[in-house]
Amino acid sequence: MLNIIIFGAPGCGKGTQSKLIIKKFGLKHFSTGELLRKEIEEKTELGVEADKYISKGNLVPDEMIINVIINAIQKLDANCKGIIFDGYPRTVKQAEELEKLMYKLGKSTTILIDLKVPKRELINRLLIRGKTSGRSDDNLETIKKRLDVYETKTTPVNEFYQSLNKYAAIDGLGTVEEVFGRIEAKLNE
Ligand code: AP5
Ligand code: MG
Repeated sequence: MLNIIIFGAPGCGKGTQSKLIIKKFGLKHFSTGELLRKEIEEKTELGVEADKYISKGNLVPDEMIINVIINAIQKLDANCKGIIFDGYPRTVKQAEELEKLMYKLGKSTTILIDLKVPKRELINRLLIRGKTSGRSDDNLETIKKRLDVYETKTTPVNEFYQSLNKYAAIDGLGTVEEVFGRIEAKLNE
């Protein structure tokens, strides 16, 4: 199984690259952001609660998100070729929980791909997307907050996977195809 964590700051291209990786390697996509946005759209209890955090650029509490991912993994069908985790884990606690869960299921994460994009470019991409995305967090104030939260709460996840020897940094600048080419080369190694 190829179980990839696609990682990086808001706007680095996790969702965009996930689509290409899935097409090429036939993986199942788990995006906690998308799962939560679906809950918000459907106005479920979880969605209403999560939106309070998301619209302010904060992380949803670990307890809330860990159950989302456990439910999603347990629904996987047995002959699935692998998983791509997009936007999860975002805290060291989530990383520890993911590793425990995978171990319990007799699986393991293969690699964390860290997409590196400079801050100015991230803000630019998200502001452009904000014109049409309808996402409550794609405005300048919330984008800045998301970037701060990423720096303080999420970057330690990198060190966690470096210590497991499951880490690759990839330059996320350039065209979508160029970035994908770099990821593909790494995954083929
Ligand atoms: P989430 O949905 O995961 O959002 P994010 O991490 O802020 O990242 P984005 O989805 O905005 O960006 P992306 O990296 O996917 O880039 P994309 O491909 O879209 O999370 C949203 C919120 O949900 C969080 O803030 C949090 O509140 C909550 N949440 C989610 N998971 C959680 C968790 N595990 N724990 C706690 N809370 C959680 O690209 C961005 C734009 O750039 C697009 O318009 C795209 O077309 C464009 N683009 C992509 N690649 C390129 C390129 N190479 N060149 C030019 N433009 C490009
Ligand atoms: Mg995304």
